[in-house]
Amino acid sequence: MTSQFTVSGLTKTYGSNVVVDRLDLTIEEGEFLVLLGPSGCGKTTTLRCLAGLETPQGGTIAFKERSVFDADARLNVPAYKRNIGMVFQSYALWPHMTVRDNIRYPLKVRKMKEAVAGGAVEAAAEMVDCGQLLDRYPAQLSGGQQQRVAVARGLVARPDLVLFDEPLSNLDARLRDQVRTQIHRLHQKLGFTAVFVTHDQSEAFALGDRLAIMKAGRIEQYDAPEVVFENPVSDYVAAFIGMSNKLSLRRGHDGWETAAGDPIDLAHGVVRDSADRRTAAVARLRPDDVLLHARTEEVPVGNVALHAELVTYEYGGRYFDVTVETGGEQLILRAPAAQHSAALRGSRPGAPLVVSFSPASLRVFAVPGDETTAAPSPVAVTTGGRA
Ligand SMILES: Nc1ncnc2c1ncn2[C@@H]1O[C@H](COP(=O)(O)OP(=O)(O)O)[C@@H](O)[C@H]1O
Ligand SMILES: [Mg+2]
Repeated sequence: MTSQFTVSGLTKTYGSNVVVDRLDLTIEEGEFLVLLGPSGCGKTTTLRCLAGLETPQGGTIAFKERSVFDADARLNVPAYKRNIGMVFQSYALWPHMTVRDNIRYPLKVRKMKEAVAGGAVEAAAEMVDCGQLLDRYPAQLSGGQQQRVAVARGLVARPDLVLFDEPLSNLDARLRDQVRTQIHRLHQKLGFTAVFVTHDQSEAFALGDRLAIMKAGRIEQYDAPEVVFENPVSDYVAAFIGMSNKLSLRRGHDGWETAAGDPIDLAHGVVRDSADRRTAAVARLRPDDVLLHARTEEVPVGNVALHAELVTYEYGGRYFDVTVETGGEQLILRAPAAQHSAALRGSRPGAPLVVSFSPASLRVFAVPGDETTAAPSPVAVTTGGRA
């Protein structure tokens, strides 16, 4: 498979604010790429540059061997000639047009009369279960229906590339899941190429063939979802994909230890290179990889055990979300309700506990700005990662 959509060195600034910073990206034909990052990191601006709605200051963009933007060559193919479909967060339907006319709009702009005559509008409406809404106006539709119409409009002209800018974020939780599944099914059926922007990690994992995690105008990691999940390349990525627990580590006399001085066995991992003279590191850990114990209880063999105190707990049905403090740092964990309900319900803040976890569930990174870090970041991780 050839690389079909290529972005190279893309740079977009507003005054002195560098919003997209020499960004590189390749997207295979038919691939569903998710661009994931926090608010303000430049996701929308990147999409708008792809669509031709913004003029970057630098870089190149090519769609299927066709250059559509080249800063040096002063080439900038206008938006309407790029054959792109867009679905926005705000639906952006024309209020004065019926559903039929809204969906037909991209065909009209492209003068695709045969597609209109051939029933493309009706077929697109059917695809998103809106076939019976064609004569209504947007104001007569629910939010979920409006967004499905917007999806039909984005796909009707069979564009080379479909861009989605947080299309689910204005929907309530139940509708969000429905429309998400619908987009996923449409992609499996039609095989269009997509760039889908979101700040929601569960959306990204659910939809993406690959995830590009963005930080301050650049791609920090670009990998399959499973690779991102298992082996985040940095503390930033780890925190963003749900490894919300952070443990500060330092080098003690006989190896690594926590801030409270508990030894921590990183035998598989952190320091492979004996020349590494790092004195501090940060470890990331998922809440569901941490176990909760009474002080008197045995912990599983091989687990790291840390003394902790209860901060608070919240009931979540099958589990409790428990916050504890250990060595001055807070950890959150998911404790199965069946096992812990009786003990937790009677506990007050400050109650003594033990938490434990397998060292293999830690991902360890250099401390940003740590001058002693000679080895490439990230520090080697524990399970045969890519580091
Ligand atoms: N038209 C604009 N003029 C000036 N600054 C802008 C403009 N559009 C976006 N920005 C700035 O660029 C940064 C990235 O914005 P955006 O691409 O919308 O981020 P995201 O979609 O990831 O939330 C923000 O700091 C934003 O304020
Ligand atoms: Mg945005």
